[in-house]
Amino acid sequence: MKSYITTPIFYVNAQPHLGHAYTAVVADTYHRFKKLCGCQARFQTGTDEHGEKIAAAAVENGITPQAYTDKISAMFRDCWPQLSVEPDNFIRTTDQAHKRVVGEVLQKLYDAGDIVFSDYSGLYCQGCERFMTEKELVDGLCPDHRKAPQEVTESNYFFKMSKYQDWLLKHIEANPEFITPVRYRNEVLSFLREPLEDLCISRPTSRLTWGIPLPFDSNYVTYVWFDALLNYLSGLGYSPNGEVSADFNDYWPVAEHVIAKDILKPHAIFWPTMLRAMGVAPYQRLHVHGYWNINETKMSKSIGNVVKPRDMVAAYGADAARYFMLREMSFGLDASFSDEAGLNRYNADLANDLGNLCSRTMAMVEKFTGGLIPAPPTVETALDAELRIAASGMIQEFKRRMDDFAFHQALRAVWGVISLANKYIVENAPWELAKDAAKRPRLDAVIYNLLEVLRLVALPLHAVMPQTAAKIWETLHITAYPDLLVQGQWGGILAAGTAVKFSGSLFPRLAKKDTAADKNLVKKKDRPVKPQKAGAAHGEPVSFADFQRYDLRVANIVAAEKIAKSKRLVKLTVAAPEERTIVAGIAEHYSPEELVGRQVIIVANLPPAKLMGVVSQGMVLAGKDTGGHLVLATVAGPIPAGSKVA
Ligand code: ME8
Repeated sequence: MKSYITTPIFYVNAQPHLGHAYTAVVADTYHRFKKLCGCQARFQTGTDEHGEKIAAAAVENGITPQAYTDKISAMFRDCWPQLSVEPDNFIRTTDQAHKRVVGEVLQKLYDAGDIVFSDYSGLYCQGCERFMTEKELVDGLCPDHRKAPQEVTESNYFFKMSKYQDWLLKHIEANPEFITPVRYRNEVLSFLREPLEDLCISRPTSRLTWGIPLPFDSNYVTYVWFDALLNYLSGLGYSPNGEVSADFNDYWPVAEHVIAKDILKPHAIFWPTMLRAMGVAPYQRLHVHGYWNINETKMSKSIGNVVKPRDMVAAYGADAARYFMLREMSFGLDASFSDEAGLNRYNADLANDLGNLCSRTMAMVEKFTGGLIPAPPTVETALDAELRIAASGMIQEFKRRMDDFAFHQALRAVWGVISLANKYIVENAPWELAKDAAKRPRLDAVIYNLLEVLRLVALPLHAVMPQTAAKIWETLHITAYPDLLVQGQWGGILAAGTAVKFSGSLFPRLAKKDTAADKNLVKKKDRPVKPQKAGAAHGEPVSFADFQRYDLRVANIVAAEKIAKSKRLVKLTVAAPEERTIVAGIAEHYSPEELVGRQVIIVANLPPAKLMGVVSQGMVLAGKDTGGHLVLATVAGPIPAGSKVA
């Protein structure tokens, strides 16, 4: 089994921030996960070093583009080890080998008649480094860069992208996993149902010289996106003419790309059509995530509202920073960073849940079993069985969720077992068992089971928090290479009678003043403005009695379908626990497939209302940001349908 995962190659016009770090951590975690599953895995990242943005940044800094790119590229390369991000290959588009591949591909497509010379006039966004259609603009501005694009007219070379439009449409329709999550697939499909224009792939040297020269016309350099996308192949030693490398043969058939939604179009449209023209098979999957926002604005180098990865590591440590990113963002949706969220996650999930489980268990080993791993128990109680079944099931659940790129859910599965184990300690009260010599076998059994849970919990965590996982395994004297399939079963691995010595605490509890968070990871100017007095920002206060009149319930969505002729409305069948129909205005934010299976919160005692001919018996609650973006409200963990929200 093989795996090949890539991040975008990042522009070197500014230093890395949390947005870049998230993509890199996602790819690194997936890479480690694949290795945990016994795969031969490869992970590539790098820097995108040509084009107008970089040339402009170099001028601003008063140095040559090459000196400038060397400096910033090194900052990206140096940043990743701080987060335990360990790529197998770091590619730069100024590498000679990459430039050679780009030249060869251009020549091949030109010879085949897929690149033609033509006049063009259009709206050009320098931030995106591409021509935009009128439809893409919001109030005449590029939605990402909030600047009006310039009208540009010039003769250029064009890649005949439109020739491959039908093929791409059919390919995406036939391969539901090609672009995930489904909302981005739908976005690309609807874009492809309109006529596709050809892609301008050159820039005249009169306007830009910092690029790869076109092999067939020295008056032009290559458009930065055409150059950049080819990194995914050139990094494997691909060549359109010569011998194809072993790495290309091994890894290209399993290629998966991770990106954020800002660069969906180049990856979902330009890139597959380029591959098709080159006669290379399309990549396997494209995974698209949302934005890290600060105070509801996308974190970006051009706005400057950034959180630096090295400050996060200084505040919380590399493992905790990785955990935060993966747990806090639902892959595919936007997430917000705040110092409070960072500190809360650290203290609640890491210091309280995982850290406590580890230190309590180790303290019991030291106190009650002479510092030795006890023998595996021969008798199993109902509580033991519950813990064993949950821990073994967690490994399967983790694997399934990771395969689907649902990192937050994979971690939720692990934390479900950690919580259960903490509860198991309270229910079994080992300190009471220790008072009665006759209960010694039971005490040993409880401690063995807890050590076994720690071993199993640390197994998937090798992908997410490599240092923490290694520390737990070292303490338990497990030297074997972690493998989910080999060591994911309950029992049979801990060596009874071995001494375990654990000093310190995995995640000491932090107060705000202890952390670099106190030094403001989020700059003051980017923090939300607090309302002056209670109620001022959200309306008048209501009495508790008034609040109690609302019957809020947890409900499971069992079916969902869009209401024809409405852009906004979805018809939901929810169980609370009796089934009822609710019409919700969330169609622009969730596809029906994404809704089924979710737990939501409903107002259950509203009078029925008819919407587009459908009777709605309640209302689904959601959070709404100032941009009108909706995220469904839910409970923090599974709970029976119909439970009251109080
Ligand atoms: O687009 N939230 O480079 P880039 C989440 N060179 N992710 C974010 C983010 C945010 N606020 N900001 C940036 C380019 N990212 C091209 C790519 S690939 C052939 C060429 C991450 O430096 C995310 O992965 O602008 C996004 O897609 C990428 O950085 C854009 O990086």
